[in-house]
Amino acid sequence: MTISERVKNINPSQTLAITAQALEMKREGKKVISFAAGEPDFGTPKNIREEAISAVKEGFTHYTTSSGIIELKEAIAEKFKKDNKIDYKTSEIIVSTGAKQCLFNAILTICDPGDEVLLPTPCWVSYTEQIKFAGAVPVFINTYQEEEFKLSAAQVEEKITPSTKLLILNSPNNPTGAVYEQEELKKIAQLLLKYNFYCICDEIYEKLVYDNVKHLSPASLSDEIKEKIITINGVSKSYAMTGWRIGYAAGPKEIIQGMSKIQGHSTSNPNSIAQKASVEALNGDQGTIEEMRKAFDERRKYMVRRLNEIEGISCLTPAGAFYAFPDISKILERGIEYNGKKISDSFDLSNFILKEAEVALIPGSAFEAEEYLRLSYAASLEDIKEGLDRIEKILRF
Ligand SMILES: Cc1ncc(COP(=O)(O)O)c(C=O)c1O
Repeated sequence: MTISERVKNINPSQTLAITAQALEMKREGKKVISFAAGEPDFGTPKNIREEAISAVKEGFTHYTTSSGIIELKEAIAEKFKKDNKIDYKTSEIIVSTGAKQCLFNAILTICDPGDEVLLPTPCWVSYTEQIKFAGAVPVFINTYQEEEFKLSAAQVEEKITPSTKLLILNSPNNPTGAVYEQEELKKIAQLLLKYNFYCICDEIYEKLVYDNVKHLSPASLSDEIKEKIITINGVSKSYAMTGWRIGYAAGPKEIIQGMSKIQGHSTSNPNSIAQKASVEALNGDQGTIEEMRKAFDERRKYMVRRLNEIEGISCLTPAGAFYAFPDISKILERGIEYNGKKISDSFDLSNFILKEAEVALIPGSAFEAEEYLRLSYAASLEDIKEGLDRIEKILRF
């Protein structure tokens, strides 16, 4: 029996490999500190958890409409209106099992085999594999630390071909923390109209922005532009609800209908109880977001300062999300000897840090960016301090 070419083509997640190794070391009794996680270290707020308990008690435990309950779609439409200044009808919204499923459904709905998808790098791990799964071709566009890891319209235009079907924009960005401003987005959005292709805007980290930076949804720029955009968001990061698996997407009706068809034949509705809890997340008290954001802000400043104090590391202060993304090219150039071999890539460096400092972090190669590491600051200040002390010690000249 052979495995399909489609699956053979997909790379396993490096993030999961490192996390599994770190867990194994913890089981062996080692005091591993983890900066690998892609989730808030806060609990889901109490009002949301209680709503889920009520849903169970009331027996809201059956199949729902495949694309999500109307109550939740209404809450999402209201959220888009209030926070993002976009008018979406409930027929233009789908609720899925995490933003990840929204992305998967959207890419499969838009792309035919051979279509090209413009993907700014460094980028989140799953985009590349989802594009490949659809038989489409990822066309990477590098962004650079000197340009705050932001893509210019000129860079996009250069890569457009008759096969270009889609651009994926993620702001605030995982892993770089880049947040695009209005003028930058306007210029990129004009290209969607000029060359007639779609853009997925992944806004999952929308609420986590710092230093008076404002998040802007490209779909709010004009009605014409809105027709070319699929806006993706969810409750995972803003409400510390990663395990509940609720994400949502909004966009042109025919695209949303296509996404619903895929969902209807794969997972059907997202979890009924989690949908009820998400209504409370969106409609209830929003105060916990600010508490979490403030805590992340303090940790962000501390982590970036400490990283920049290590010789050979240069780290930009991220404007959003909860990751620091330091440039480690000078450390790789130094070629630290480990197990009789010179460390020359980000995977070997993160392995060295895991084994010798017992700190888990993600190599830049997981994000198509070899000379970087990603450290999540969704960890306690105490752990951040201890983890950075350990890293500093083993990277000292
Ligand atoms: C950029 C980005 N998009 C989407 C997701 C997926 O979120 P969800 O938990 O809602 O599937 C993540 C999760 O790490 C992410 O970092």
